[in-house]
Amino acid sequence: MNAPVMNGLPIQAPPHVKNARLIAWVAEMAALCKPDNIYWCDGSTAEYDRLCQQLVDAGTFKKLNPAKRPNSFLATSDPTDVARVEDRTYICSATKENAGPTNNWMAPAEMRATLQPLFDGCMKGRTMYVVPFSMGPLGSPIAHIGIELSDSPYVAVNMKIMTRMGKAVYDVLGTDGEFVPCVHTVGAPLAAGEQDVAWPCNKTKYIVHYPETREIWSYGSGYGGNALLGKKCFALRIASTMGRDEGWLAEHMLILGVSNPQGQKYHVAAAFPSACGKTNFAMLIPPAGFDGWKVTTIGDDIAWIKPQADGSLRAINPEAGYFGVAPGTNEQTNPNCMASLNRDVIFTNVALTDDGDVWWEGMGEAPAHAIDWQGKEWTPAIAKETGAKAAHPNARFTVAATNNPALDEAWDDPKGVKIDAFIFGGRRSTTVPLVTEARNWTEGVYMAATMGSETTAAATGQAGVVRRDPFAMLPFMGYNMSDYFQHWLDLGKKLEASGATLPKIYTTNWFRKGADGKFAWPGYGENMRVLKWMIDRIEDKAAGTEHAFGVSPRYQDLNWTGLDFSTEQFETVTSTDKAAWLAELQLHGELFQQLAHHLPKELPATKAEIEQRLAA
Ligand code: OXD
Ligand code: MN
Repeated sequence: MNAPVMNGLPIQAPPHVKNARLIAWVAEMAALCKPDNIYWCDGSTAEYDRLCQQLVDAGTFKKLNPAKRPNSFLATSDPTDVARVEDRTYICSATKENAGPTNNWMAPAEMRATLQPLFDGCMKGRTMYVVPFSMGPLGSPIAHIGIELSDSPYVAVNMKIMTRMGKAVYDVLGTDGEFVPCVHTVGAPLAAGEQDVAWPCNKTKYIVHYPETREIWSYGSGYGGNALLGKKCFALRIASTMGRDEGWLAEHMLILGVSNPQGQKYHVAAAFPSACGKTNFAMLIPPAGFDGWKVTTIGDDIAWIKPQADGSLRAINPEAGYFGVAPGTNEQTNPNCMASLNRDVIFTNVALTDDGDVWWEGMGEAPAHAIDWQGKEWTPAIAKETGAKAAHPNARFTVAATNNPALDEAWDDPKGVKIDAFIFGGRRSTTVPLVTEARNWTEGVYMAATMGSETTAAATGQAGVVRRDPFAMLPFMGYNMSDYFQHWLDLGKKLEASGATLPKIYTTNWFRKGADGKFAWPGYGENMRVLKWMIDRIEDKAAGTEHAFGVSPRYQDLNWTGLDFSTEQFETVTSTDKAAWLAELQLHGELFQQLAHHLPKELPATKAEIEQRLAA
């Protein structure tokens, strides 16, 4: 249904839309944004195909060679619109303290006054797409509904892949169900007769969250997490606030299932900062020497975790697709991912080969010639001479979870899966050993809270600098970080009180480098060796050695079948240097100073214990 907007006249919602609050909000937003048309998405395949063709006709999409990559498209963005914009992302809670020191904040009234003139008429000449979506299996007690209004058909088709999007959402919503209103504009109104560009956007950008009223307003970007508002904005920033208020967790975590040869199955939720291989870990294929072990994917980026009456934690993946980083993905690093990308994919900012397929750095042999992500001629010789990348380092694929050959049979189960262990993994070339088990919940929360990571290309900014990224949530927290630490500690106490066995907590670092500056741990499928140790620990079958900040495996505690990895190499990835740790703890202290407001006393107390043990 494509309804022209009549100034002042009520909005014509399709008959299946019966939620009065939704209809009133769409009318209000249409009156503000002044689109030429309103289109209510139904989520059908016919609609997806039609919108993709429309994007091809507009020059936003190139259809890839159907013989090579059936039903797949390539979009290349404006070169200034390539990643999440953390410095333009705001948590506009009523007070600055509630946003906390790690978030940009503006008073809600001031932000509304700032956005009002920007949104006024922002969709002129465009269609407003009404995108109904469920984060999580439709009707699951863990799921929640959002409605995104966007003037970007690119957003509409990506949301179809990334969420449960479509008409069925309205049945769950009913006449008075709750939804999170999300409004998005590329901020590029068209004057009458003005020709559109392939990737409209605005150099002014605002990614704004109002946690109290659970609203999201996004202006000026068409890219990824800035524009697909179900993902970081809703499923992490707004949902973390909902979790605080309602007693659950919204986490930047993959969820995987791991089965051992005896057929026991466990579920692990793992937090890693952006572009640290969450998708690879979630799709891991056990290497030689792990006969009978199997890893299956529930989710690759976000977990919603709710405590149950029996003291267990059950988790769902609120998403329905993967918006993953393409560069570095290949048949060795992630064969399951490569198989997922065989068809029905939207690629963004990768290179176009002469035979109508895609290529990115680290995919395999370079083509002799390609068109790079900025539409320029690219050859290996040009790359050598100028350093030009064929694909942007934050180039992405959008693909449905159902394309993944390792998809877990319970990935869509409304009840979610029971979590047996949490992993927090940073990207550190030094100091932090391969794997450490926390001795208790508080120590685990400490590990997660003090996690550091060298930055990557997923957000704009400098790559390679160590920043503290508590729980891998730094860019995604919807409220004061220290209150969030408290929320985790409180949850642990609550679970303990119910008599349940708490999930074990681990910290990992796949990224230690040797003296030669090269990664010392092979990573990827070989991470199974560490995962198996964790599962064995859960089953009380594996030993380890206790040290100042937890328990780590000795060489003989890991299964090395099929891998030539010496005790010296093991030492390189596991050694702990006292001086480096004293310096590290100093940085933890600086973090705690920054987060002093409401910092749980358990954290400096845990730090003091580690210091004492180090000194002993
Ligand atoms: C992502 C991110 O896109 O973390 O998942 O940046
Ligand atoms: Mn992420």
